[in-house]
Amino acid sequence: MTGNITFTMIKPDAVRKGTTGAILNDIIQAGFKIRAMKYVHLTQKQAEGFYAVHKERPFFGELVSFMISGPIVVAMLEKSNAVADFRTLIGATDPSKAEEGTIRRKYADSIAENAVHGSDSDENAHIECGFHFSQYEII
Ligand code: CMP
Repeated sequence: MTGNITFTMIKPDAVRKGTTGAILNDIIQAGFKIRAMKYVHLTQKQAEGFYAVHKERPFFGELVSFMISGPIVVAMLEKSNAVADFRTLIGATDPSKAEEGTIRRKYADSIAENAVHGSDSDENAHIECGFHFSQYEII
């Protein structure tokens, strides 16, 4: 059975470019309900912790530096089939391979600076929401 929760981050590149509002609008228009949301600037330890699953990858250092290069928006989203539908909405990790009309195709420049994150499984969606939100912040 698929769950109804996913987790997203609007990354520093998208915030810097002023596309936060446009991306949130695309997410809401696609039928996602915002259950929790914050505007934050991650520390190095927080970014390393969030992306710990990627720590052996060659791009880990670059990923962490990028994610702490400016503020981001973190959000918990609700919709039926949330994880899969959100990944369809944002498109492929590499924006040059993302479908026309997807968030990454519209707002991202490269695989490293790809505008948004979306959970890759129901299990990770719950882990990632738990990383950023306490129970009282979820509506
Ligand atoms: P995200 O969905 O946030 O999950 C892991 C992130 O690692 C991914 O988006 C990309 O931003 C980043 N990433 C994946 N592959 C590469 C790569 N080859 N070079 C740099 N960053 C990458």
